[in-house]
Amino acid sequence: MQNITLDNITQAVINHGDGGKSHPRLYEIYRSLVTHLHAFVREVNLTEQELQMGRGFLNRASHHTQEIPNGEIHMLTDLLGISELVELLHDTERGTATESNLEGPMYIPDVPERQMGNCLGVDHEGDPLLLSGCVLDVNGQPIPNTLIEVWQSNSQGLYDIQDSSQPQGNFRGCFRTQADGKYELETVVPQGYNIPASGPCGEVLRLLGRHTWRAAHIHFQLSAAGYSSLITQIFIDGDAHIDSDTTFSVKSAIVKLQKHERPEELFAHNQNKPFYTTEFNFVLQPTVCEASRVEHLALITSQ
Ligand SMILES: [Fe+2]
Repeated sequence: MQNITLDNITQAVINHGDGGKSHPRLYEIYRSLVTHLHAFVREVNLTEQELQMGRGFLNRASHHTQEIPNGEIHMLTDLLGISELVELLHDTERGTATESNLEGPMYIPDVPERQMGNCLGVDHEGDPLLLSGCVLDVNGQPIPNTLIEVWQSNSQGLYDIQDSSQPQGNFRGCFRTQADGKYELETVVPQGYNIPASGPCGEVLRLLGRHTWRAAHIHFQLSAAGYSSLITQIFIDGDAHIDSDTTFSVKSAIVKLQKHERPEELFAHNQNKPFYTTEFNFVLQPTVCEASRVEHLALITSQ
């Protein structure tokens, strides 16, 4: 196309291709993205210098570092609220099932399976936490043989992959429910932590006057045959940043901790210092709900 002007450049970009004949969904996303990006550039009257700063920001955000081994792109979508927005958009048909939540950038697949009740990690500084509950279906029936993947930071707010002083796989593990659907594990009370902030995302947050704290949480991924897999997080009631988590991901899955410090309680639970307990039940949706949702989305896409 010749004679490109302010008035026709957006449509020229959208029209440059086969108009979605090959890949309709990709084109739908592309067309909307171009439309919104061009509108944004016009609205803020973006300068060449600012554009160059943006290019540099994205380039640096993609770099892998010791502090954030997978780069900052995933974290960037969390900080912009985009990750949570996508969660909310697609978590509307869960009914009474447990809410989903962000996977976050610290997930590692294929971690070792542990015996029910075992310790998730080693942390002599942390406050012991005995976490238990059930995995249930939407009718309240137990779901046996559910694989529960758990990962969290230690009491210093660091994940094993960020901290060479921790053993590999510390505070990561899989547990499998028995016939009664119950699970139990020992861990430490997670602490809120600052997201890795030495890179470009941290720089921008500081310039915006935004803090970098995540409220204390524990990550889970649950998989059971016949049920939709669930990725979620639970949060700790009373955490200092429960109302201002920097990823906007605190919803209703908030647990209260009960402290135990009487000598007979310590003895009964084989603990040598005060410990905490809490319970959380997970409720999974049957897979049929997922299938019907996919059919529904396919119908919408074809229209
Ligand atoms: Fe996390």
